[in-house]
Amino acid sequence: MNKSTPHFHESAAAQVQGRADYIDDLPRLEGLLHAAPILSPVAHGQLLQLDAQAALQAPGVVGIVTAQDIPGDPVLATYVHDESIFAGPELAHVGQVIGLVVSESHRSARHAAQKLVKLQTRSSPPVLHARQALQAGLFVLPTVQVQRGQAEQALQAAPHRLSGSLDIGGQEHFYLESQITRAEPQEGGQWLIHSSTQHPGEVQHWVAHALGIALHQVRVVCRRMGGGFGGKETQAGHLAVWAALAANKLRRPVQMRLDRGDDFVITGKRHPFSHDWQVGFDAQGRVLALDAVQLAHCGHSADLSGPVSDRTIFHTDNAYYLSDVRITSHRCKTHTQSHTAYRGFGGPQGVLLIETLMGDMARHLGLDALDVRLANLYGIGERDTTPYGMQVEDNILHPLMTRLATDCGYRQRRQAIADWNATHSVIKKGLALTPVKFGISFTATQFNQAGAVVSVYTDGSVRVNHGGTEMGQGLHTKVCAVVAQVLGLPASQVLPSASDTAQVANASATAASSGTDLNGRAAERAALQVRTNIAQCLAQADGCMVDDVRFADAQVHTPTRIRRFDEAVQYAYGQRVQLWSDGFYATPKIHYDRQTLSGRPFYYFAYGAACSEVAIDTLTGEYRVLRTDILHDVGHSLHPEIDIGQIEGGFAQGLGWLTTEELVWNDKGELLTKGASTYKIPTAADMPAQLNIALWPEPNREDNVGGSKAVGEPPFMLAISVYEALRDAIGSTCDSNTPIRLDTPATPERVLRALQALKQP
Ligand code: MTE
Ligand code: MOS
Repeated sequence: MNKSTPHFHESAAAQVQGRADYIDDLPRLEGLLHAAPILSPVAHGQLLQLDAQAALQAPGVVGIVTAQDIPGDPVLATYVHDESIFAGPELAHVGQVIGLVVSESHRSARHAAQKLVKLQTRSSPPVLHARQALQAGLFVLPTVQVQRGQAEQALQAAPHRLSGSLDIGGQEHFYLESQITRAEPQEGGQWLIHSSTQHPGEVQHWVAHALGIALHQVRVVCRRMGGGFGGKETQAGHLAVWAALAANKLRRPVQMRLDRGDDFVITGKRHPFSHDWQVGFDAQGRVLALDAVQLAHCGHSADLSGPVSDRTIFHTDNAYYLSDVRITSHRCKTHTQSHTAYRGFGGPQGVLLIETLMGDMARHLGLDALDVRLANLYGIGERDTTPYGMQVEDNILHPLMTRLATDCGYRQRRQAIADWNATHSVIKKGLALTPVKFGISFTATQFNQAGAVVSVYTDGSVRVNHGGTEMGQGLHTKVCAVVAQVLGLPASQVLPSASDTAQVANASATAASSGTDLNGRAAERAALQVRTNIAQCLAQADGCMVDDVRFADAQVHTPTRIRRFDEAVQYAYGQRVQLWSDGFYATPKIHYDRQTLSGRPFYYFAYGAACSEVAIDTLTGEYRVLRTDILHDVGHSLHPEIDIGQIEGGFAQGLGWLTTEELVWNDKGELLTKGASTYKIPTAADMPAQLNIALWPEPNREDNVGGSKAVGEPPFMLAISVYEALRDAIGSTCDSNTPIRLDTPATPERVLRALQALKQP
C-alpha cells in the first residue's frame, strides 16, 4: 500500500456513525407519497376480482395502481421479456405483485394493500419443485447441453463408477437495506429515480420502457446500497417501475420500500439446484467421465436464469480437467419467486457438485481427498482446456493448494484427526481442503465495458464518477485510489460521486466481480488523460519533455521546478487546458459463442483454496467449525484490507448458504421462512473459532488494473471446505464406500439424517 491508498473504506466513518445516507435518509419531499404492494395469495391461479373500495376509503390513501395505469409496455423490459409489471389475471407465485396502494405514509399504504384490498382468486395446483417441472415439461428457457468427448462410452469403460443426486438449497440475499426506490417527476416529462440498484442503466431502461418514454428522459442515481449481493441486479428495477407508475398516475413523488417479510416473498433468491450425476474414474480417483443433469429451480420467469445456469455449467469443472463430459442443464419453471443473481451467479452450484464427487471418489477408493483433488487438477501445457474450449493459461492451482496444505499442517492434522476419531465415539472430526477457480468477466461479452469521468477542480481537488455502484464492497475506494495514484495525490483528495446515468451512459451492472477491473481501468485512463494534459502544459512552460514531468506526493516535478499539485492545476487552467476527461475500457481477448457455449468467456481466472476442520456431535448432528485457513489470489491487491474483508464476507456468506440458511416453502407455495426469526444467516458465533487468511503473492498475469484480480464472488466458494469437512466427519463413522448424500443447507438435522442413513445400509 502507498499513500494513495486510504486505510479505510470511503464511507466507513460515516457508516459507523450512522451518517451515510441511504435512500430512506433522503430529505422528505413536499407531497411525497408511499406505495405498498398488493400481493398474490396463491402460487398458481387466476385473479377474478380486485376490490379496492375499503382500501381507498382508509385514512391517508390516495389511490391504487394496477396494470391499467401503465402508459408503455405492460411487460417488463427484461432480457427475455416474459414478466408482467403487475400480475393478473394469471398468478404465478405467492407474493407476486398485483398492484399498489399509494398513501401518505408507508404504514397506511401497507395496511391498506395487505389488509383492506379484497382479492377473489381461483387457485390451481402449483408446481413447486424443479423435478416436478421437468416431469411436466415446464421450463422458462430451452434446455442446454454441453459436451466434450464421449461421456457415455467413457463411463462404461471406467474401472470405477459412482452415481447420485444432490439437492442444493437457495439463499435469500438478506441485504441489510431492503429494496427501496423513490420516483420524482421532473419538468418536461422527465424523471429522477433514486434506486438502491446495482444497475442504474437497467432501471433507467425499465422505467422508460414502462412509461413509454425515451431513455434520456430518465435519470437514475444511486450513492450506495446497504448490500446488494446480486439481489439488486434486476430486482431493484421492479420497484423503480412500480414507484414511477404510481408517481406518473398521481403526479407526485412516490417512495417505495419493502418491509423485510415482503422483500422475502416478492423478490427472487439464489437458484436452488437439483443435480443427478454419474462419474467414472481410475484407481487414483482421476475423473474419466462425467455425466451431469442439472435442474435449476428458476421460479415463474426467466429473469437471469439463462446466464446463471450457464455459469453453473462453466463451473462444474471447478479446478479439474474433465476429458469426457456431458452436462445437460434444464431451466425449470416453478410457481415461486423468480430466482436471480446471487454472489457467484450459479458458479457455486456447479463447484459444489464436482467437489462432492471428489470427496465421494476418495472415500470409495480409500484415498485422501486432497490427493484425489490434486490428481484431477488442470495441468500446465497438457490437460489444460476447459469443457467449453478455453485454455487455462494462468493456472496456479497446484502450488496454491500445496502451499496452503503445508502452511496449515494438513497432513499432520489429518493424522491427528484419524487418531481422535479412532478413540472418540461421539464427537467426530473432519477435515477438507478445497480449491476455487472462478472465471472473471460477464459471459455476455458486450457487458464487459465501462466508462468514467475524472474532474480536477482549480483547487486541486478531484471527483470521480464511473458507471459502477457501491454496495459495501469498496469499489469507490479502490477506483479513487487508482485515480489518486495516477495523479500522485493522497486518497483524501479524491472523492467519488454517486452513480448517475446522466454522467456515464450505458453502464453495465456492477456484478460478476468485475466492478474494479472495468471501472478502475476506465477511471485510470481518464486520470491519465488529465495528467497528460497538465504535463504537456508544464513541459512547454519549463522547456522539458512531457515524459520528464512527474506526479508524486501532491506535487508536480519538472527537471527545473517543483509545483504543488494545486499550483500546477491553476497554471494549466490559466493556459486553458482541459482538466477533466472521460475514459473508456473494454476487456480484451474475450469472445464467446452463445449457441455452443464455447470460446473464451473469461479474461482470466481468480483462484483460492480453503482448509476447514469441523467437529460433529454424532448424537445430535450439531457441529462447529474449529478452524479455517484460506489462501486466496487477488493478484496484486489494490487494497489488502478491503480484499481481506471481501474474503471473510464471501466465506461467511457461503457458510450461511451451505449450513444455516434454509428456505422453506409449504405445499401451497407459501414461503414460511421470511424473517430473521426463522431464516438464520450466520453470526459471529458460527464463524470458525480460528480463521487465518493469506493472500497469494503474485500479480495478475493478464494486464489488469494495478495487477489486481477481482475478489467479490470467488471467496464465497471457499466455504465448500466446511461442507466437505462435514461429510468427511460423517464418513469417518463407518467404512461404507457409497456416496454420502448431504443436501444443503447441511443443517444439524440433515447431518443427523446422513449419519443415520450410513448406519442403515
Ligand atoms: N460485498 C458487500 N459488502 N456487499 C455486497 O453487496 N456483493 C458481491 C460482492 N461483494 C457485495 C459484496 C457481489 S454479488 C458482487 S458481483 C461483487 O461484490 C460486485 O462488486 P465488484 O464487482 O466491485 O466486486
Ligand atoms: Mo454479483 S451475483 O454478480 O451481483
